[in-house]
Amino acid sequence: MNNNRHRVLLVEDSSALAELYAGYLRDESCVVTRVGDGAGAMAELERGPPQAVLLDLKLPDMDGMEILQHIQRQKMPTAVVVVTGHGSVDAAVAAMRYGAFDFIEKPFDAKRLKVTLRNALDRQSLATLVDSIREDFQRERYHGFIGGSLKMQTVYRIIDSAAPSTATVFITGESGTGKELCAEAIHRQSPRRDGPFIAINCGAIPRDLMESEIFGHVRGAFTGAAKERLGAAGQADQGTLFLDEIGEMDLDLQTKLLRFVQTGTYQKVGGTRLHSVDVRFVCATNREPLKEVTEGRFREDLYYRLHVIPIHMPALRERKDDVLTLARYFLAEMAEEEGKAFSGFTADTEEILIAYDWPGNVRQLQNVIRNAVVLHNADQVSADMLPAPLNAGMSGVKSRARLARAAEQSASPEPAPRPMKPLWLVEKEAIEQAIECCGGNIPRAAALLEVSPSTIYRKRQAWAS
Ligand SMILES: Nc1ncnc2c1ncn2[C@@H]1O[C@H](COP(=O)(O)OP(=O)(O)OP(=O)(O)O)[C@@H](O)[C@H]1O
Ligand SMILES: [Mg+2]
Repeated sequence: MNNNRHRVLLVEDSSALAELYAGYLRDESCVVTRVGDGAGAMAELERGPPQAVLLDLKLPDMDGMEILQHIQRQKMPTAVVVVTGHGSVDAAVAAMRYGAFDFIEKPFDAKRLKVTLRNALDRQSLATLVDSIREDFQRERYHGFIGGSLKMQTVYRIIDSAAPSTATVFITGESGTGKELCAEAIHRQSPRRDGPFIAINCGAIPRDLMESEIFGHVRGAFTGAAKERLGAAGQADQGTLFLDEIGEMDLDLQTKLLRFVQTGTYQKVGGTRLHSVDVRFVCATNREPLKEVTEGRFREDLYYRLHVIPIHMPALRERKDDVLTLARYFLAEMAEEEGKAFSGFTADTEEILIAYDWPGNVRQLQNVIRNAVVLHNADQVSADMLPAPLNAGMSGVKSRARLARAAEQSASPEPAPRPMKPLWLVEKEAIEQAIECCGGNIPRAAALLEVSPSTIYRKRQAWAS
């Protein structure tokens, strides 16, 4: 069998439907395995996780959701597309919450199934690539980003892989996590880097001016339109158009944007000529895009058009090992700008910075350091120089930090025997020993070995073949 072909597991109890879906996928470059119930699906997953699973939620012997949860718990390198009955939005939303990559509503046609599955497989290939390179290639800086945590390495790798294409990138993440930096990095990493990068904030411009901001207008299009104007779409020709806070865009305008994204052509406000441009779209939102779709604030067809390569910017509290790297970088930069002598933080200040949750993410960290640097002058930033709320909850924050450290120290590593054996065998035995010692739980074994679960899956597959 060709090892480069993606493996897809089709879990569907109706053999007529399974036959139909397999037929839809006949021309795709994937190998489809069919099973009719949950037990069959579990057995297939045990044999080796496929790249994608098309999963009907209603199965004769089991709730499909249990299978989805099993895949998530085991951190299998598998993208799950859930098949739901017509109108069962709740089930779809629940499945997405449990980590499904996407859902598809019955009845669907061949085209819809192929697009959804291709997106899932593309994403899974990216994730696997990220995993394999992550272990031997780590960067602490990337374009405007600072931070060497694993979560940021993943972001850098996705940008690397996505930048050369013109596929639309959809960036999500809390406020202050670096969504705009991410959009800039994609542009600078792409072949369009010498072309324009045009950013437009859909939340900051009044609704009635927005259409002209994006598409421009002809002279006399509305009161005050004294001159013809090139909009962001025209300016971004041969470059990147960054639609920031896309969740704020008016539904009417979303229809026009969809047409533009589909065809690359648009009309200026008040104009009749069709303009054609070559732009790469990147968009960002700090809202939950799927919720916006189900609640009717965001067009579903536009969402599917834009949501080709998703990048999620991790919150700062999810990558605590970046906090001090960032804090030291900002301190050096700001001390220089403000002409201050600060050269570092006292130990207890560092402890507080690490223990804090950073709801405003990197932007908040920047503000905290700026505040300390502007208002004080010393060699080191001490805890009393930090602004509220960091100074207020100091003792609480401190004890939490200590607890976390104590927990880290109590994890005792297993001593491993070291016979003289070929390296691959030593590795295989170490992995098998870890899996056994974790009762078959691969993610835990992976954590013990400090590798990603998909590394273990990959190696096991290599040994099996
Ligand atoms: N990893 C990082 N390294 C260095 N600076 C960062 C990093 N992440 C964010 N920043 C800085 O933090 C600030 C906020 O980043 P950015 O504007 O990109 O966030 P955002 O996600 O777009 O926020 P919002 O949702 O509020 O618009 C910027 O000044 C940016 O330069
Ligand atoms: Mg922003």
